[in-house]
Amino acid sequence: MNEHARPQTLSERADEFEERMMHELGERIATRSTLFHLADGEVTMDSGPGLKAANPDKYFLMGADPRLPKMPDQPTLIDFFHNRFASLNHLLQSATHALKDGHSEKIVLACLLHDIGVASFIRCDHGYWGAQMIEPYVDEEVSWAVRMHQALRFFPDPSVGYEYPEMYVKYFGADYKPEPYIVAEYERARNHKWYMSARLICVNDIYSFDPNAKVNLDDFVDIIGRNFRQPEEGLGFDNSPSAHMWRTLMWPTRFL
Ligand SMILES: [Fe+2]
Ligand SMILES: [Fe+2]
Repeated sequence: MNEHARPQTLSERADEFEERMMHELGERIATRSTLFHLADGEVTMDSGPGLKAANPDKYFLMGADPRLPKMPDQPTLIDFFHNRFASLNHLLQSATHALKDGHSEKIVLACLLHDIGVASFIRCDHGYWGAQMIEPYVDEEVSWAVRMHQALRFFPDPSVGYEYPEMYVKYFGADYKPEPYIVAEYERARNHKWYMSARLICVNDIYSFDPNAKVNLDDFVDIIGRNFRQPEEGLGFDNSPSAHMWRTLMWPTRFL
């Protein structure tokens, strides 16, 4: 039988993947965390002893992954924008929109950072992840707004002209209803003193991507400088409660 006639088994695919990873990394063995496997629909983890037994002459990767853009020793938020955030346009467009509408620097920054959870980490609960990443470095109102946009975007607010996004009907179906934890979060946020800050993220969230819009991170460097407390040691090395998240983003395939 032609070996290409049947689909590969999961373990064959895994072997091939490991082979490819190691080939690309030369002397080091890169590992995929369980979360990466879960995203492929597999509840599994890379086996340390198994990989080591198969590659007795190689050590596991314990630092930078050479396939990814190199990060400086003391990385700044801007370095993460350039080297780890998979997409900048949506963030820049939202922030540009907020800037043109004359909003405060806090709101512009919140718009600029509102989806970094998606752009760098994970889609599920991205508002919470993004807020946690930036919390030690921004005004509390900014991280609060980023966290709450997760829930607010599902609920209209006619007072500011915010409708339920058409895109969500296309993406999730007309009968999609947010889960109870999202509804409860929305209700808490609605009565909060910073409600409008989170709401403004939704208002400036550009759902239909405009490929012709001219946006540039350079336009926001000064606002970041004034409103994001960049640690001297570099993001990830400053012992903040979210430093480990930035390190993980820097070194996503470290063995430990
Ligand atoms: Fe979002
Ligand atoms: Fe967004």
